[in-house]
Amino acid sequence: MKILITGATGLVGKELVQLLLSKNHSVNYLTTSLSKIESKPNYKGFYWNPQQGKIDENCLYEVDVIVHLAGATIAKRWTNAYKQEIIESRILSSELLYNLVRKTPNQVKQFVSASGTASYPESFTKVYDETTKVTEDSFLSNVVKKWEESANRFQVLGLKVGILRTGIVLSKDGGALPEMAKPIKLGLGAYMGNGKQMQSWIHIDDLVALYSFVIEKQLEGVYNAVTSNPVSNAKLTKVIAKKLKKPLFLPNIPQFLMKLILGEMSYLLFTSKKLSSQKIQDLGFEFQFPEIEQAIAAIYS
Ligand SMILES: NC(=O)c1ccc[n+]([C@@H]2O[C@H](COP(=O)([O-])OP(=O)(O)OC[C@H]3O[C@@H](n4cnc5c(N)ncnc54)[C@H](OP(=O)(O)O)[C@@H]3O)[C@@H](O)[C@H]2O)c1
Repeated sequence: MKILITGATGLVGKELVQLLLSKNHSVNYLTTSLSKIESKPNYKGFYWNPQQGKIDENCLYEVDVIVHLAGATIAKRWTNAYKQEIIESRILSSELLYNLVRKTPNQVKQFVSASGTASYPESFTKVYDETTKVTEDSFLSNVVKKWEESANRFQVLGLKVGILRTGIVLSKDGGALPEMAKPIKLGLGAYMGNGKQMQSWIHIDDLVALYSFVIEKQLEGVYNAVTSNPVSNAKLTKVIAKKLKKPLFLPNIPQFLMKLILGEMSYLLFTSKKLSSQKIQDLGFEFQFPEIEQAIAAIYS
């Protein structure tokens, strides 16, 4: 298959490209950076600028599936201007792709989009699955709502739409884990708040395997991209410290302090989401790293 990927140069995208190429798929990708454009027989880059409505139409040539990963990082201070960028980088880009698919003769059959878990209710005990009604009313849950609406629009064009509601992606190369490990490595590790908030996570190898599974099985619908074993912030911090052979003896970091330092974005450290991955497992997907100890050991081995 030929797969067009947006955000292919990011943390998830890079790993997904490697996996798809190893399975003899071809990859076209869209990037906002001219310097990131490469052209190899099975891996071709194309320029786009969603803010300016610019896209190289050749990117769609012989493409069977589009994977939409592009989006400005949420791990940066949420000023009003940056909040706008978080939304627009996901929605304008999706709309640009929609208009391209609508106008251009093509053979695209499926649109697979990243999404987040922010729309699920806060929970320390109750496990939520994909049938849960959206109740959260926060900045990030509104981003997720608009992001998924923009993805679902591709159904109008006759495409199958798959949405992966992704939890915390664990990788040594970026995302939350290296940020959590930094103070621990310095002997300054501590829980966030009371450490009881539940974190639904996925090892990056499982996440890209899950994208590949959804593409190869041409699945549609919403899937939680998390393992079925969420852990508390305290447990995750302890497992990382144990693997790095570092002590944890500092007092917990209070929520008000992090709010002072990080502003509204501190939400990411204290939100509690306990999610199920039963739906994708029932379809035959097997996690390579279902338990946190295994995942952290594999990353830091
Ligand atoms: N990592 C996680 O823990 C996690 C969790 C839940 C959901 N997700 C979602 O999964 C997707 C992929 O995550 P990731 O960690 O791989 O993200 P990432 O490393 O930040 O990469 C995202 C890519 O999006 C493109 N991009 C950045 N800003 C953009 C903008 N303003 N307009 C258009 N494109 C822009 C960049 O590609 P170019 O420079 O090539 O244009 C970048 O490489 C994201 O949408 C993210 O929100 C990630």
